[in-house]
Amino acid sequence: MEIFKTKQSLQDYLADLRKNHKKIALVPTMGALHEGHLSLLAEAQKVADIVICSIFVNPTQFNDPKDLEKYPRPIQNDMALLADGGCDILFLPSVEEMYPDKAESWYLELGDLDKIWEGEKRPGHFQGVTQVVYKLFSLTQPDIACFGQKDFQQVMVIQHMVTLLGLPVHIQICPIIRSAEGLALSSRNMRLSEAGKIKALALSRALKHIKEGFGKEAIATLRQEALQLLDAEGEINVEYLAICESSTLQEVQEIEADKNYVALLTAWVEEVRLLDNMILN
Ligand code: PAF
Repeated sequence: MEIFKTKQSLQDYLADLRKNHKKIALVPTMGALHEGHLSLLAEAQKVADIVICSIFVNPTQFNDPKDLEKYPRPIQNDMALLADGGCDILFLPSVEEMYPDKAESWYLELGDLDKIWEGEKRPGHFQGVTQVVYKLFSLTQPDIACFGQKDFQQVMVIQHMVTLLGLPVHIQICPIIRSAEGLALSSRNMRLSEAGKIKALALSRALKHIKEGFGKEAIATLRQEALQLLDAEGEINVEYLAICESSTLQEVQEIEADKNYVALLTAWVEEVRLLDNMILN
């Protein structure tokens, strides 16, 4: 695995590969890698000749400085996982490398995506995500970029940016990877105790309950039952649970035959903010 810490060295290396018409896939990450990330790497390997993984804990997408500070950074382990997984290139820039101009500002029109759910709860978060992903796309000019369905709204935001700016990259959405018991894998799970991990299983149970009843029971009833299930577990603080139309993320009360739906859930367990979602049809 080749490791680059500067934009220039990465670009020089990629220029040579491009001369040989290699198909390039990018897997952007913030490190603290787990099976979910490795599944993105595996997906990227299937569709491209060269896979670049980036590890960069992007400060502009953290609206809470404490969250940024606490974000896990097990870099040696991450490098070993990527090398074992057959990653071709690791891009590992510093904050100064990615943001040489401290006063740099960024705003992309994201419409409602910036105002609802994660957009509402984490003001500025998606602006920071699009800012760094745009930088990574410009730098690496990938044919394909792989993102996890786990961050459902993030994928929509990135797809929105790609369409809006006409970027020549295909966004590949990869399914959520769960533990055998159902916990959606996330770098944040590292901060949960063993008891917390067991408690957090209630999130996927609640979503599964909605999926199983979808189309059979009223939406409001299903949502209520799922909330009760989470409440019964105790010490789970739900930020939002919504059953939404998939292309707009607008919450719905009724189902329409030709539309697709997703249940979105964000909840706190042991001071860790967990996100999960389930595609319903
Ligand atoms: O999903 C993430 O890990 C981050 O939001 C991303 C896409 C790497 C941008 O920093």
